[in-house]
Amino acid sequence: LVLILDFGSQYTHLITRRIRALSVFSLCISGTSPLSSITSLNPKVVILSGGPHSVHSNDSPSFADGFVDWAQSNGVFVLGICYGLQLLVQRLGGEVRAGEKQEYGRMDIEVEKNCGIFGGKKVGDKQVVWMSHGDEAARLPNGFEVVARSQQGAVAAVEDRDRKFYGLQYHPESEGTPGSVNQTFRVAAHSMLALGRAWETALSGDNTFGCWGLVTHSPEGMETLKYFLFDVCGVNAGWKMEDVMDEEIEVINNTVAPDDHVICALSGGVDSTVAATLVHKAIGDRLHCVFVDNGLLRYKERERVMETFDRDLHLPVTCVDASEQFLSKLKGVVDPEMKRKIIGKEFICIFDAFAHELEQKLGKKPAFLVQGTLYPDVIESCPPPGSGRTHSHTIKSHHNVGGLPKDMKLKLIEPLKLLFKDEVRQLGRILKVPEPFLKRHPFPGPGLAVRVLGDVTEGNALDIVRQVDEIFIQSIKDAGIYDSIWQAFAVFLPVKSVGVQGDRRTHSYVVTLRAVTSQDGMTADWYCFENSFLKEVSQKICNNVRGVNRVTLDITSKPPSTIEWE
Ligand code: XMP
Repeated sequence: LVLILDFGSQYTHLITRRIRALSVFSLCISGTSPLSSITSLNPKVVILSGGPHSVHSNDSPSFADGFVDWAQSNGVFVLGICYGLQLLVQRLGGEVRAGEKQEYGRMDIEVEKNCGIFGGKKVGDKQVVWMSHGDEAARLPNGFEVVARSQQGAVAAVEDRDRKFYGLQYHPESEGTPGSVNQTFRVAAHSMLALGRAWETALSGDNTFGCWGLVTHSPEGMETLKYFLFDVCGVNAGWKMEDVMDEEIEVINNTVAPDDHVICALSGGVDSTVAATLVHKAIGDRLHCVFVDNGLLRYKERERVMETFDRDLHLPVTCVDASEQFLSKLKGVVDPEMKRKIIGKEFICIFDAFAHELEQKLGKKPAFLVQGTLYPDVIESCPPPGSGRTHSHTIKSHHNVGGLPKDMKLKLIEPLKLLFKDEVRQLGRILKVPEPFLKRHPFPGPGLAVRVLGDVTEGNALDIVRQVDEIFIQSIKDAGIYDSIWQAFAVFLPVKSVGVQGDRRTHSYVVTLRAVTSQDGMTADWYCFENSFLKEVSQKICNNVRGVNRVTLDITSKPPSTIEWE
């Protein structure tokens, strides 16, 4: 196991993902975890992440007392990255001070000693890396030596090979993805740091921009990490998704007694579907799923999703048509948060009724509830103090069933809670969840309620947005670009404009099309369609959807907008 101690960098999980991509199991826990949490995991390597703090500030997070002695006496390798390096240096008796010049962005570093972390000349003597720090190691603890410096002469890599302690001042995990509008925007914003930290906080929640996966920043970063893990630390690459599946099935079977029943709310999304399929494989038809049609689903969504559950996955799913119930409660409601609350509450009522019905039928209360919680949710449920990262559990509380009535007393089964989204897709493939299903764009819990601005029950707004959305998505699929887009959808605007259709003046609705690329939904860029594509889609919409005479395109990134309109 490679354990990452999280000190608040926005994308600490990027390190975890990069290491898992090398078939090495890695976990990430809070950097301030007690020593017992670290030792109980028995890691071979511990990585101290970056973070937005200075080791000099009063509230800067640090690892538990006794960690260094434990690592040393157990031969555990420790690698500090950026803030992690500074922390290591400071806690081992060295000195960290504010650098004369701050280093942000792409930098050349020169490897002075081709040993240890850069051993065997596997990586170049000169490297371009991504730096993002104000403080620097000014005096190293006894036993440490500098093995690389930046072009400005600052310490870029250190090591104490006897004690197995290593440090990189730059971010090797930020190998990056192809550049894009929003990324360029961030780089520009970054160079405006002097304008104030507020900008930065608004953009990222911390100052470690190197973790954002910007344009190929530390091109040899992965090579360095690989060399460090396999050659220096002797880690074995043997972590496979098949093993994860078998282990999870064993855990489920050990948790759920032979006469216990389990319930699951399926949303039609990837996470709940893969979670349910896995649990079904473990306990068979003692799993009872419910799919709720809340009247806010996309065009033919209920039919399509139910068909997949039945035909491809053989999942036992009860479909509850509750559209009337939801829509009557939403009548006249225009506030987006109010809409979300109403939807969450109604969902819980239906789920409660489903569980009680099941109890009557089985003569026994269901004991467990399956949830498709993913690892980023777990990590974000307790971000390190001062990291500026949000609690994703809080963000999502309206659409998962965390708010279930207490008297249901259901215990949770969260079989995906150690996996990232791409790993869930991998697991889904092994479980034979159809590929198009796995690749579906995310769809928000409140559904079309947040894509019809204002009162969703007004006129035929829901019908209009369904038809426009279907044309848009089908055109995207036909153009072969569906998989390059994170999320695409149509939005109904409660606005009428004047048009001419069939030689007649019309006064009809305006719709907007939104398509974004993103890594994780936290930031996003608008997708650049070909003009010919847009022309065709716009024509198709106006010719086929009664009540629409104007199509607009949303060309805003997140930030400053959000992905959804409400
Ligand atoms: P925003 O609009 O906040 O969305 O940029 C980021 C991602 O989250 C999805 N989203 C939601 N998902 N319930 C959900 O289950 C919600 O209330 C909700 N709001 C936004 C959104 O579709 C995007 O993928």
